[in-house]
Amino acid sequence: MTQWWRDAVIYQIYPRSFADGDGDGMGDLVGSTARMGYLADLGVDALWLSPCFASPQVDHGYDISDYRDVDPLFGSLADMDDLITTAHDYGIRVTLDFVPNHTSDQHPWFQAAVAAGRGSPERDRYLFRDGRGVDGDEPPNNWLSVFGGPSWTRVDEPDGSPGQWYYHLFAAQQPDLNWRNPEVVAEFADILRFWLDRGADGFRIDVSDALIKDDTFPDTDSGDPVIPKDESSPVHDIYREFRQVLDSYEGDRMAVIETGAEDDIVALFLRPDEMHIAFNFRFVHAGFDGSDLREAIDSSLAANAAVGAPTTWVTDNHDTPRSVTRLGQDSVLAGAYIPGTMTASGNGATDEDLGTRRARALALVLLALPGATYIYNGQELGLPNVDDLPDSALQDPIWERSGHTLRGRDGCRVPMPWTRGINLGFTGSRAEPWLPIPGEWAELSVAAQQGRDDSMLALYREALALRKASAALGRGELRWVSAQDVADDLLAFDLEGADETVRVLLNLSEDPIDLPDGGMLLSSEPVIDGQLPGIAAAWVARPGPEGIQARLSTLGQLIADIVDRRR
Ligand code: GLC
Repeated sequence: MTQWWRDAVIYQIYPRSFADGDGDGMGDLVGSTARMGYLADLGVDALWLSPCFASPQVDHGYDISDYRDVDPLFGSLADMDDLITTAHDYGIRVTLDFVPNHTSDQHPWFQAAVAAGRGSPERDRYLFRDGRGVDGDEPPNNWLSVFGGPSWTRVDEPDGSPGQWYYHLFAAQQPDLNWRNPEVVAEFADILRFWLDRGADGFRIDVSDALIKDDTFPDTDSGDPVIPKDESSPVHDIYREFRQVLDSYEGDRMAVIETGAEDDIVALFLRPDEMHIAFNFRFVHAGFDGSDLREAIDSSLAANAAVGAPTTWVTDNHDTPRSVTRLGQDSVLAGAYIPGTMTASGNGATDEDLGTRRARALALVLLALPGATYIYNGQELGLPNVDDLPDSALQDPIWERSGHTLRGRDGCRVPMPWTRGINLGFTGSRAEPWLPIPGEWAELSVAAQQGRDDSMLALYREALALRKASAALGRGELRWVSAQDVADDLLAFDLEGADETVRVLLNLSEDPIDLPDGGMLLSSEPVIDGQLPGIAAAWVARPGPEGIQARLSTLGQLIADIVDRRR
């Protein structure tokens, strides 16, 4: 078993924003496949494709009406087969988004549930309850939706009378499934098999820790739902079942879970008979704060080591304001995972140059830490968040559901700039991109960055190439060399691989620092007079334990030879 996922670099494609192949202004699978050479050159090991299954697109594909088909917006099943085959030809693995918490309200199961009425087996696949109050016209409890507003919506019964309510953690068009119903478990195990049969190497499991709700549905002070995740929660049995499905296939198939839980809870989901890896959102929250970063690194490594699981490192995704913007704000925004909180606007002025410099430095930490690393499309270009999209362009359901108080996540989903040409090469000339692309992104386009050694793209490419060739970067044993109390100014750790050690330095202060002896592998800013400038990071190769061993034995041999000669 290679367990490739332990230290893979996995690139997230947000299909509608990555590349448009058919020129309708919306990214698609053909467009993504056509860019496989770019991804191979970048040096990624695997892809994660955000959902491209049949969907009314209320939550951009996270509301699925047919889990076994591709949405025509993105192409066809044949296009998906082609994408998987092409990626595999390049040696790139493909993981798909798996959305088990809720279906679309257009899914045949939900339609059948509404039509079948109270107490039916069809309703038992979802979370239907009678309302409270006179005539049941108040929601069954006070839980709130992550996207704003109540998390219950009332249906009409088949005879037209006002009826039961159904639960939705997200939008009303995303009814939650009843994961205590074995039919639901069986159906989703079968969906996994469907995609595994077609060559998927694994899955990213959406809202993975929320499948089981407290089915007494108690009111809470905050309106937050009660979602048991501890050891005794039946949610773990679901993942044990999924694991068996994955393990029944050749080729080391894997699953990464999306969860915002505390590290020790996350680790429960990563026990050897459950899932493989989990996004480390604590690292996202840490921003550019040395102590927070160190704590996030230590805590997650320790919690996961206890169950034998590696850690993943992530700074950006389709739900979080882009790091160049977050890191360029005075109070570095700690905001990720819970959608409604995820907008960078309103957090004070942004210094994008500072944000970019910090993002370059943080990239060298991200890409060095032991474990799997995720890169969100456009992160390698240093794209900022677009916080001034016109109101009329906003499409995230958060915007409507919050009564136009939260702008939502569109700012981190603006399409990729590929060239300096029309529509920056994202789409053909006859269509508007689904979100407007800022004109000044011409200089951030792939074509513009390709020719520049000091570009973010060049940094990512070089870092990934070094990582691929190294036994230490991304996979060595982490040993801190900076004291905890200097973390605000300096993070320094060694990564010890079999025959080399790489020292990673993150200078968080404004002042330059001396570099240790060793070979400079890469730095996020030019080294001046042997010093690493402020707000910069470097990778320095050091002689590893085996290197030292080898030199000691050579020394030993020399001494033995001298002694021999004297005899
Ligand atoms: C996850 C997705 C997010 C989506 C939500 C509901 O958090 O990453 O984009 O809106 O789940 O499916």
